[in-house]
Amino acid sequence: MLKMKGIEGLQKMMNGYHSVGLMVVMGVIMVVVYFGGDYYNYNSGSISWFDFNGVTEIAEDYSFEGCDLFNGSWVYDNKSRPLYEGKQCSFMTDDYACQKYGRKDLNYQFWRWQPHACHLPRFNGTALLEKLRDKRVVFVGDSVGKNHWVSLLCLIDTWILEPSHKVAEWHGSLITFKASEYNVSIDFYWEPLLVESNCDDPVNHRVRDRIMKIESIQRHAEEWINADMLIFDSYSWWLEPNMTLLWGSFENPNKTIVESSRVRRYEMALKTWSNWLESHLDRKKTRIFFISLSPDHKEGGDWGKTMGENCYNETEPIMEEGYWGKGSDTDLMRTAQSTVQDLEKKGINITLLNITQLSQYRKDGHPSIYKRHWDSPTKLELANPVLYADCLHWCLPGVPDVWNEILYTYIRYKI
Ligand SMILES: *[C@@H]1O[C@H](CO)[C@@H](O)[C@H](O)[C@H]1NC(C)=O
Ligand SMILES: *[C@@H]1O[C@H](CO)[C@@H](O)[C@H](O)[C@H]1NC(C)=O
Ligand SMILES: *[C@@H]1O[C@H](CO)[C@@H](O)[C@H](O)[C@H]1NC(C)=O
Ligand SMILES: *[C@@H]1O[C@H](CO)[C@@H](O)[C@H](O)[C@H]1NC(C)=O
Ligand SMILES: *[C@@H]1O[C@H](CO)[C@@H](O)[C@H](O)[C@H]1NC(C)=O
Ligand SMILES: *[C@@H]1O[C@H](CO)[C@@H](O)[C@H](O)[C@H]1NC(C)=O
Ligand SMILES: *[C@@H]1O[C@H](CO)[C@@H](O)[C@H](O)[C@H]1NC(C)=O
Ligand SMILES: *[C@@H]1O[C@H](CO)[C@@H](O)[C@H](O)[C@H]1NC(C)=O
Ligand SMILES: *[C@@H]1O[C@H](CO)[C@@H](O)[C@H](O)[C@H]1NC(C)=O
Repeated sequence: MLKMKGIEGLQKMMNGYHSVGLMVVMGVIMVVVYFGGDYYNYNSGSISWFDFNGVTEIAEDYSFEGCDLFNGSWVYDNKSRPLYEGKQCSFMTDDYACQKYGRKDLNYQFWRWQPHACHLPRFNGTALLEKLRDKRVVFVGDSVGKNHWVSLLCLIDTWILEPSHKVAEWHGSLITFKASEYNVSIDFYWEPLLVESNCDDPVNHRVRDRIMKIESIQRHAEEWINADMLIFDSYSWWLEPNMTLLWGSFENPNKTIVESSRVRRYEMALKTWSNWLESHLDRKKTRIFFISLSPDHKEGGDWGKTMGENCYNETEPIMEEGYWGKGSDTDLMRTAQSTVQDLEKKGINITLLNITQLSQYRKDGHPSIYKRHWDSPTKLELANPVLYADCLHWCLPGVPDVWNEILYTYIRYKI
């Protein structure tokens, strides 16, 4: 077991710099609480639960019944955003630290998500941790899931002042975060295809030929099945055109290269996943969220740029209501939706967080070239940065903070 403080160690591990032995990273990280003077400033006078003094929470009986939190628009708001400073987040990783890596246009941090029919409550880390007291939450999925998880840790970070009361540890595919005062863990488990695959190494997973054991999940699922809350995501890895489906074990492969469509593979994996949940989940205990697909912005042609361009150099959201990029596979999205609905019918507490549309608008929200590149860009790439821009993950502070504000709203007011 490796013990570490902050995310610096995690990052090294994530990227293959194994250091030998026990790694105790001390380093007291300055945490500045800045919410004191920071307040919302909506001018909708009729909202009874809103306190214009800002610091006070909205009324306890807040309800978003009848309001679609996912239908809304982005509002420029440099008063209440960002919700934290990237540089001060103890858990930030270089994959999302766009400002640190030279991004100069900072407007991407200043957009607030405004549902059409209601307001999102102000994020309160103390209230969240109190609600989760004695509970274990696990994010399970791919690097976008990790992006989501890091965002939540950054949101919580400023609400826990004592550095020794918030500690992250690495155990293979699992990274745990513990808020000891509350006896809460918020973990991330690397499992990009949900089923077992040759991409399961949390460090070395960039393999060319992806092979998955389409009916096997137990080895992973045993690590998270007892959690109180599970938050799943799995999308971008499925866009690969060719994947090998395997029955039997990796060592003794009954290898079957099945001609199958992307949707068919996704269906099979989600079937394995949902069957496992049906037969192993404690339905009284565990609450599940499934994050709908996180869109990328790799095809500039989708929003009227020249074909071949992408999110590189984008500084503004798309304002066209209902915009949908071709990279967001609606068939996969429907597959996930119907799997979730089937589980719901079977009495499992599961909610799809439909963040796809709201994220579609944010072509400006990706790291592009402003992140640590673990392979140095080539000369060709440097001459044409479009070639190495990351248009899949999201800068922090940024879009995943909104996914977490929505998650927070559910946890706080609907569970
Ligand atoms: C979103 O809300 C607007 C205004 O309330 C409504 O006209 C529209 O139909 C809604 N869109 C969806 C996809 O529900
Ligand atoms: C916030 O944005 C407005 C409008 O763009 C600008 O006038 C103002 O200076 C900004 N405030 C801060 C603190 O950046
Ligand atoms: C956050 O929530 C806690 C617990 O509900 C409450 O005591 C505190 O006043 C809230 N803080 C803010 C700034 O709203
Ligand atoms: C902490 O929470 C776990 C459940 O996640 C529980 O089993 C344990 O008793 C709690 N510890 C304390 C000291 O309350
Ligand atoms: C996928 O498989 C097809 C048929 O075997 C092959 O022509 C194609 O090059 C493969 N694509 C990739 C990206 O490997
Ligand atoms: C290999 O897997 C296929 C597909 O499940 C199955 O039909 C076949 O019997 C298996 N063969 C062996 C030797 O296990
Ligand atoms: C779903 O969760 C709620 C609140 O946590 C709980 O009261 C209910 O029993 C759960 N549903 C099922 C089917 O167990
Ligand atoms: C980036 O955008 C700016 C302003 O929109 C423009 O002047 C510049 O030419 C663009 N650069 C590239 C490399 O596309
Ligand atoms: C999710 O949002 C999309 C786009 O707004 C919509 O088409 C779809 O029906 C929604 N799905 C669910 C389950 O609400």
